[in-house]
Amino acid sequence: VGEPLEFDFGGHCTRVLFHEQLELAAAAPAGSALFVFDRHTARLFGGAPPGRRLAPGRRAAPGAGPGPRPAPGSRVVLPPGERSKSWGGAEAVLRAALRLGLGRDATIVGVGGGMVCDLAAFGASLYMRGCRLLLVPTSLLAMVDAALGGKTAINLLGYKNAVGTFYPAEELHVWTGALRRLPQRELRSGLAEAIKTALLGDAELLALLRERREGILQRDPGLLEEVVRRCLAVKGRVVAEDFRESGRREILNLGHTFGHALEAATRLRSWTHGEAVAWGLLRAVELGLSLGLTPAAHAAAVRGLLADYGFRLEARPVRPERLLAAMQTDKKRRRGKIRLVLSRGIDDTVVETVDEEAILRCLREG
Ligand SMILES: NC(=O)c1ccc[n+]([C@@H]2O[C@H](COP(=O)([O-])OP(=O)(O)OC[C@H]3O[C@@H](n4cnc5c(N)ncnc54)[C@H](O)[C@@H]3O)[C@@H](O)[C@H]2O)c1
Repeated sequence: VGEPLEFDFGGHCTRVLFHEQLELAAAAPAGSALFVFDRHTARLFGGAPPGRRLAPGRRAAPGAGPGPRPAPGSRVVLPPGERSKSWGGAEAVLRAALRLGLGRDATIVGVGGGMVCDLAAFGASLYMRGCRLLLVPTSLLAMVDAALGGKTAINLLGYKNAVGTFYPAEELHVWTGALRRLPQRELRSGLAEAIKTALLGDAELLALLRERREGILQRDPGLLEEVVRRCLAVKGRVVAEDFRESGRREILNLGHTFGHALEAATRLRSWTHGEAVAWGLLRAVELGLSLGLTPAAHAAAVRGLLADYGFRLEARPVRPERLLAAMQTDKKRRRGKIRLVLSRGIDDTVVETVDEEAILRCLREG
């Protein structure tokens, strides 16, 4: 277990600490804390999670202010899945904090995958206009991506991440031992984001993913920690340059415009986010190839790595016209053209506006 990482995001410092073992109660700061879990992550740390359990739906007495005295720690346990990333989920967190009488100096601790991290961070950014936030990511996707960088969100009216704030955690506590019981599909979802991140700026990480695939898939904690550390270093560097996504941060969406379109066209049912991103990464390098931007060897290397990890890469999983229609509603569209993140090589990523005709051709031909 190596040195902590430290980042400055728009004047807010985030420290990432890596652990060989992790006791939640020890990770939380002295004083009052509210732990946020989903039902799966509440069981991960052995024994009872810290604090008294609070029923998420219970109402405070009408007109009641904050409770009389802070408790040493309490918890909210939400149903797993995107449906908890909602106003209802956020309200459950905020109500619990109020009922405990937590002040601004209290800490909300999100313990879970990207869903819990996004929601706990959203709640922390609102509670008393911003209380302390600590995240313990437990899925690989949250470790390599979601927990770092300060984007918080809830979903609204079926739109993913429609409402949110920028609010980086003070600390992330990473313990790759937590991944032991993560379902294999979720592990691979995280690996798709790790492959994306390697393409953005770390040739050694790409080599590690290629050469140590067996160990990574068998969840060797040391290898996973190396993957997480390297991903966080790349993402942290990009976010530190452009915290509020006015430019450079867009490159983190490599593979995502295609991926989101696939998720939308299949109504988020048959593909996980990571599977869709892996498929989108291949479409992005193939489109780059057809536009003369991406060298053939780079496109072939990306295809090979994604195939080795067993991702679905079929050319037309849904009708190309439906995918294009979904891409047309993407946030990054400008004046009839679609903005796409394309890869010319490792650490050579560009954002380009691309003709819809060229995209359609790529989707048809694969
Ligand atoms: N804020 C950001 O920058 C950012 C970036 C990427 C993704 N996200 C968000 O992250 C979310 C996806 O994250 P996710 O893939 O982690 O989904 P998730 O949080 O829904 O977790 C996936 C499943 O794995 C379970 N799980 C988590 N850790 C586990 C463990 N150690 N053992 C067993 N089960 C475990 C969860 O309970 C859940 O059932 C989406 O909401 C996405 O929008 C945010």
